[in-house]
Parts: sequence; structure tokens; C-alpha cells
Amino acid sequence: MTYEIKELSQLNEGMLLEVEAGNKKLVVARVDGDVYAISAKCTHLGCSLAEGELRGLVLKCPCHGSEFSIVDGTVLSWVGEWPKILSNITKTLGLSKDLKTYQVLEKDGKYYIDI
Ligand code: FES
Repeated sequence: MTYEIKELSQLNEGMLLEVEAGNKKLVVARVDGDVYAISAKCTHLGCSLAEGELRGLVLKCPCHGSEFSIVDGTVLSWVGEWPKILSNITKTLGLSKDLKTYQVLEKDGKYYIDI
């Protein structure tokens, strides 16, 4: 299902914004003119990624430093602020999970997200 997201017209370059599409909370970001949409909650312990730090196409969780690609949701660094051994153990146990990403469509100056 596709939802119009009116807030996206106010999204400035490099900014993170939490929006709702249907019953899902997402975080959107605009980088180099392209708009990306990902799940709003970190796959580690569910912190709000809208409060994270965006560097280029990498979003860092504000709680324990996991880093994700906003392009495809891939985990780039798992709980980077924890000791390396804990990060490696939880990753080995399969607790490291990618974020879900969503397609953003623009038509006639309006933005839509496909859920
Ligand atoms: S909740 Fe995001 S890294 Fe822990």
C-alpha cells in the first residue's frame, strides 16, 4: 500500500525526520537530493533512530552506536560503543539485524512511501 507523506516536502538535506505511513513509524532522510526511508526503531534495543546521527548515507543509533546504511538497511557496525568482544559475540549469535527499508516515490512534487 502506498501512503502520501506530506512532511517530506519540508525535509531538508541531511535532516532526519520520523513520519508515519499507515501504522508504521519510519525515519526519512534526504541525502544528495535523494530521499530514503527506513524503520524508525533500531534493531538492537529499539531506540529511536530519528534521534541518531546521519553522516552521508550512514545512520548511527544514539543509544549504543550501531550504524546502518540508509540505502539498504545493512548493519555497518554493530553496537559500536560496546566493548568489541560483546559486539562480536552478539553478532556471532545472529542478534545483528538489518533495518527494513521502504521505497520513496515522488510524483508532481508529492512524496509517497510504499509499505
Ligand atoms: S538500541 Fe541502537 S545500538 Fe542499541
